[in-house]
Amino acid sequence: MTVAAIPFPDNIPDEYQWLDNEPAFNPKEHLALEAPASLCYLSELGYDEQEISTKATPVAASSPFRVLSPKGAEILLNTARRLRQHAISCERIDNMVRGGCYRSRFLRDLCIDPSLTQLMCEIYQTDVAPHTMPLHLGHMNFSPDKLEDAVDKWHHDTLPLDIVMMVTDPATLDGGEFEYFLGTKAEMAELAKHGRQPPRERVVQASFDGPGYAIALHGNMVVHRGAPLHTPAERISMVNGYVSTNTALDDQHRHKDLTLVDPPELLYAEWARHAAWRTKGKLESLLEQLSYTSDRKLVAQQLESALTDIHQAIADMKDDGDHKMHHYEKH
Ligand SMILES: [Fe+2]
Repeated sequence: MTVAAIPFPDNIPDEYQWLDNEPAFNPKEHLALEAPASLCYLSELGYDEQEISTKATPVAASSPFRVLSPKGAEILLNTARRLRQHAISCERIDNMVRGGCYRSRFLRDLCIDPSLTQLMCEIYQTDVAPHTMPLHLGHMNFSPDKLEDAVDKWHHDTLPLDIVMMVTDPATLDGGEFEYFLGTKAEMAELAKHGRQPPRERVVQASFDGPGYAIALHGNMVVHRGAPLHTPAERISMVNGYVSTNTALDDQHRHKDLTLVDPPELLYAEWARHAAWRTKGKLESLLEQLSYTSDRKLVAQQLESALTDIHQAIADMKDDGDHKMHHYEKH
């Protein structure tokens, strides 16, 4: 399935202006999609069957594969440089641009392209859609201000699935590799408790053949980072989010972390729509599948469980307590 779970919104807040003089995204000209040569599975990282069964896909990561043609990669680099002026920083990442798809039609149309989404369905071996929340589309990371800082610290994502694409040419970089840990989140939490990083022999470094190459990641389950650069350089990567279209599966988000980085005029409406979309899917399943029974508690429990995402979103949005952004390095 390659249709959008929620169509990209038309009613964008006034303060978001489209970049002028952008080339129109043309999949025939700008994409050069290739399937990855290999996949790594959550079971290889140490997750058990029960845990995997409620997640979007059993796939953990792919080997690097080509997404963009040289022309597509050139335009994306130019787009990223134009969006750089909107960069913000957070606890985890020194320089990033969120919401770029509200400013660049090229980036938006690349991120929601049906043929790219179809490739992602094949890689993840399940139906996925471009992320329901446009803030999770076309996220960009830029070089940190301090050389010794990681581009993005060891973490797992606030969303289930994504691709991580090199926008600048990785051959020009000394350091700044994309790395992931061949272990579980629980193992990483244990290492982090003792101030340790993943052992090198259990870290995979993605080797990208050029700009416009990406890896697919089950970002909410795979602990990963953008390593520090050894020499100052322009390093830009783009992260595009996806969701499983099966709303019965775990949500696999940490929406609350976004309150620390994202513009509120976008975030809360996007979050509410996501929760409404998940709940709609669950209510539709309930209408189709609810059986006759005299067990009133069972029926009440089914109703309650269909509303989980809405109730969680309401509780998180109303909560005024302190919240810290997740990552595995010292705060
Ligand atoms: Fe990430």
